[in-house]
Amino acid sequence: MSLMIEDLSKQYSKNLRALKNISFSVQKGECIGIVGESGSGKSTLARILLGLEPFKEGVITFNGDPIAPRNRKLLREYRKNVQMIFQDATSTLNPKLPIWRSLLEPLENYKDFYPSFVEKGLTRMELAEQLLEIVGLEKQMVHRFPHELSGGQKQRVSIARAISLEPSLLVCDEPTASLDVTVQVQILKLLKELQQKTNMTVLFISHDIRAVAYICERVIVLKNGDLVDEFILDDIYDEERHPYTKALIQAASID
Ligand SMILES: Nc1ncnc2c1ncn2[C@@H]1O[C@H](COP(=O)(O)OP(=O)(O)OP(=O)(O)O)[C@@H](O)[C@H]1O
Ligand SMILES: [Mg+2]
Repeated sequence: MSLMIEDLSKQYSKNLRALKNISFSVQKGECIGIVGESGSGKSTLARILLGLEPFKEGVITFNGDPIAPRNRKLLREYRKNVQMIFQDATSTLNPKLPIWRSLLEPLENYKDFYPSFVEKGLTRMELAEQLLEIVGLEKQMVHRFPHELSGGQKQRVSIARAISLEPSLLVCDEPTASLDVTVQVQILKLLKELQQKTNMTVLFISHDIRAVAYICERVIVLKNGDLVDEFILDDIYDEERHPYTKALIQAASID
């Protein structure tokens, strides 16, 4: 998989440019972090990448093909390949359905697909159980309802759901922001582990540069819709970092 973003801009209204001439590329198996304060354009970028938000300026190519194609078959393939995890797992889980139903929903949409990382020939219920076990939950939880799970457990379910289609790109928009610190670390560890196991590419969005530094090898910094800095993790403390990056680091007091 390769993802290229070239000169992407997004204008919501006359005076509001949420993204300004953003360019970067992402390689297979990479974990790339997008960091920036509230309103810097992170979620806008995520929604554009998922095809949930239209854009007029710039080009995004996925494996060489421009995205947002009119071709429905290509779009369907793209939607399978690119999955997203949101800050609030509650929004991805239907409160009226038991966990197994929400968990298997993506696979229901792609009936001829079967994940390679689970045993062959499982019943649907067994498949749901294995998916839960992969994200560190007890298989009995398939029968519970979302309100019977903690925030961290719900986020694990939404991760299991997102990886069930073996996406080549997983976009995580503040997946740990609503969780307490110890659970945050557990979820980050899980994401890192799954990423290494499946070799999927992860685009990890956070306002918390510590979380980004924990999981990502490369970091992009957005400020008011501008890409102001881009670096590999080894260079995070370099003198040449943008003053804004330095301020983020200082605010997080990881130096
Ligand atoms: N649907 C929309 N219509 C109009 N303006 C929007 C819309 N969505 C976002 N914006 C504006 O675009 C800018 C970027 O918003 P965005 O949600 O991308 O920021 P963010 O970096 O994700 O912030 P946060 O960390 O708070 O989630 C903000 O000024 C926001 O008010
Ligand atoms: Mg956001």
